[in-house]
Amino acid sequence: MCGIVGYLGNKDAYAVLIKGLHRLEYRGYDSAGVAMLSAKGELNVYKSKGKVADLESFARSKDISGTIGIAHTRWATHGEPNEVNAHPHYSPSGNLALIHNGIIENYSVIRAELESRGYEFRSSTDTEVIVYLIEYIMKSNRTDLCTAVQLALRQVVGAYAIAVISRDNPDRIIAARKSSPLVVGIGEDEFFLASDATPIIEYTDKVVYLNDGEIAVISRGEDLKVVNLDNVEITPEIKKLAMNISQLEKGGYPHFMLKEIFEQPRTILNCIRGRINVEGTNVALSGVIDNREKFLNARRIVIVACGTSWHAALIGEHLIEDFCRIPVEVEYASEFRYRNPVIYPDDIVIAISQSGETADTLAAVELAKSEGAFIYGICNAVGSSIPRTTDSGSYIHVGPEIGVASTKAFTGQVTVLSMLALTIAHQRGNISEEKFIQLVRELQAIPDKIKEVLKRSEEVKELSRIFTYAHNFIYLGRGYNYPAALEGALKLKEISYIHAEGYPAAEMKHGPIALIDAEMPVVVIATSDSIYEKTISNIQEIKARQGRVIAIVTEGDKAVRGIADYCIEVPQVAEPFTPIVASIPLQLLAYYIAVNKGRDVDRPRNLAKSVTVE
Ligand code: G6P
Repeated sequence: MCGIVGYLGNKDAYAVLIKGLHRLEYRGYDSAGVAMLSAKGELNVYKSKGKVADLESFARSKDISGTIGIAHTRWATHGEPNEVNAHPHYSPSGNLALIHNGIIENYSVIRAELESRGYEFRSSTDTEVIVYLIEYIMKSNRTDLCTAVQLALRQVVGAYAIAVISRDNPDRIIAARKSSPLVVGIGEDEFFLASDATPIIEYTDKVVYLNDGEIAVISRGEDLKVVNLDNVEITPEIKKLAMNISQLEKGGYPHFMLKEIFEQPRTILNCIRGRINVEGTNVALSGVIDNREKFLNARRIVIVACGTSWHAALIGEHLIEDFCRIPVEVEYASEFRYRNPVIYPDDIVIAISQSGETADTLAAVELAKSEGAFIYGICNAVGSSIPRTTDSGSYIHVGPEIGVASTKAFTGQVTVLSMLALTIAHQRGNISEEKFIQLVRELQAIPDKIKEVLKRSEEVKELSRIFTYAHNFIYLGRGYNYPAALEGALKLKEISYIHAEGYPAAEMKHGPIALIDAEMPVVVIATSDSIYEKTISNIQEIKARQGRVIAIVTEGDKAVRGIADYCIEVPQVAEPFTPIVASIPLQLLAYYIAVNKGRDVDRPRNLAKSVTVE
């Protein structure tokens, strides 16, 4: 979703800004723009519908000079994606340029008021009212830019990360955040600003994550100053980035998604490193151990998440109830936050989010916190908003995920949930020592098992050719693999735009069975588990109606192979961990079908990686 980049220093700002926008492309967007202050004192704003490359073509013959500037990728909310609605927006006089990520909920009220004072707006966006309001305040109150920003933001209801520059002060950027992420990078005599650390990493590892209600005053030749809306100065906490630049490159793969699928043996290893001991006799998540009493006394665990993270949460429900015998509820964060849920102070609320910035998940966390629950975060992006607001948590440590369709983050989330369930069960004594060690060792072996699955990628590629032109798919699974079926269907629809539905296999006969005919591919996860025989019956039901079955089976399987049209084998693993290995061929199938269809795999239409608006 919208991406913000800013630069102030000695370099050519345009080059830094454009590179930064490219780094943020993975977030999803539909138009882009830049604003630079030239040495001649001009404020040059260039905007374009489409990709950053379109913006570059547009700006090619223009004045792109200057060492200070701001840039933006917009994911349309208010007003269609076009040049007028793209950011930066400038003030009526043309003195100020502003970029914004988030939604201003009371923009129509502010807009109407400014219109009544004679202002005419150029765009249909909620953003433009902020820059108009700032200029109006500067003029009517005779204040400087920072004070005007503070006063304007007091009137604004909603979420924002903004950056603004002024023709009258070519050595300053003012940036502010509330509920939308913003990071300031501190280099040698230069500053960077971005929605996340990816555009900053190649220049400096020193960053400050702004908190809600904070304003960064970035000035040439001065230290970074942070103030709040009441102008009280706050000492910024400078953090060191752990990411490196190679993590942001494709490393020889045609797409980030494929690279990320193939990274999974290593990312899961990174995820369990230091948590499972080398002998495979213990697993300890420090966030759980440090809050042992909370977990021992938890009445209930509620997991909130969106999208793929919600599918991981469903697997977490199985794991925790199975191993720990604590009741678990899984909620869409967007529903939870608005449905007046019952939350007890002895509840543990787990928020799962790859980006750590999903607006609905963040709001669900705030709600649960206000009701006194203990909040645990499972996130990937270090330093993002959710880990900074939760009481405790675990990072999944899978490295930056750039492909919009989540792959390695999903398996990392399920791995952390597996370790969490095992740690709690061990602490509570819900599991025998023997069973505990057996499961820990099984989990430890998962990276090698994934390597085995990945060796079959060519097989999946071949299979993908047969189904590239299908219009619909059904994905079925039972027990632990029902959420894996949902996730498989989501992957396919996200990147190939083929309609796909995930169902619990036995539910098929209550509706979806009506759709089955010789045209309908049905992907069934039919690994050898406790409900294998039942799943076979479901496959029979599909075959009896001429459906075409692609089955994910355990190595050496005979029964399903005898009835399914196509089988993809995965190694034998303990039942609770089957979703991790079964998901790999489903990721590959979605990937290859999307490639066959010529889709923009890493940046599928309409989707955003980091959904910072509700
Ligand atoms: C978007 C992404 C999905 C992701 C979901 C939740 O829809 O495209 O891949 O699963 O947001 O994101 P989160 O960062 O909270 O896991």
